[in-house]
Amino acid sequence: MKTIHTLSELRQALTGERARGKKIGLVPTMGNLHDGHIALVHQAKANTDIIVATIFVNPLQFSANEDLSKYPRTLQMDQEKLTAAGCHYLFAPTESEVYPNGREKQTMVEVPEVSDLYCGASRPGHFQGVATIVCKLFCMVQPDVAIFGEKDFQQLFVIRKMASDLSLPIEIQGSAIVRNEHGLALSSRNGYLTPQELDAATALNATLKDTLKAIEQGKTNFDELCESAQLQLESAGFKRDYFVIVRQDDLLPANGSDKQLAILAAAYMGAARLIDNQVINLK
Ligand code: PAJ
Repeated sequence: MKTIHTLSELRQALTGERARGKKIGLVPTMGNLHDGHIALVHQAKANTDIIVATIFVNPLQFSANEDLSKYPRTLQMDQEKLTAAGCHYLFAPTESEVYPNGREKQTMVEVPEVSDLYCGASRPGHFQGVATIVCKLFCMVQPDVAIFGEKDFQQLFVIRKMASDLSLPIEIQGSAIVRNEHGLALSSRNGYLTPQELDAATALNATLKDTLKAIEQGKTNFDELCESAQLQLESAGFKRDYFVIVRQDDLLPANGSDKQLAILAAAYMGAARLIDNQVINLK
């Protein structure tokens, strides 16, 4: 695997690959890679010829009070994992390479409405930052296929909408959530948790599964289900963020007659804000 830090070198390498008729797959990340990220690389490998992973801790998607400065940076370990997974190029630019005119003066990509809900409500400006960097990475890499985890369900929705609204000629693929043996979705932010908190955090997925079961058994009072899920999370030691049952097609709150649903949850455990979700397709 070749690690590249500058846009000009990246463009040169990929122009060559494209000229050889290679299909390019992009896996954008912020690094500190775990098996969830590596699953995206494997999916890229199965669907494209040349895999480009990116590592950039994007300051535009962090609010002032968030964990930008302490976000784990583990480049060497990440390079080893990507090499073992068969990745061809790692693009790991500096901030000035990505935002040469300064991030305050950056043209922003705004995906309306959905960006202000749920994670966007808790993290104002977050999805503008995500849409902007992902759009820039698309322009830098010009991939045929780009792969994102379903763990960040709302993020995947925002990116699909951006790609569709801007008529980007890129196939956006989702990839299933990778979990540990106790059901906890893998996340770089799990590293902020103590062993006790890691244990308690498994309640997030357990609560989602309980809610899923209740819906499958015919419960249709979603407000009541969400409130009892919040109480279940609190009794496990979580602090509330949101717990919602939405329609998959527009991410708006669902009602008892909707069939294609997603339960989206975010909650605080110790120093970490964790997210997870469960998709449900009722008959
Ligand atoms: P990051 O949190 O590093 O995640 C990179 C990709 O890995 C995202 O598409 C995310 O959904 C996926 N991912 C993370 N944990 C996963 C898991 N347990 N199972 C499956 N997929 C998982 O998401 C971002 O970075 C950034 O917002 C980014 C898109 C790179 C833009 O800066």
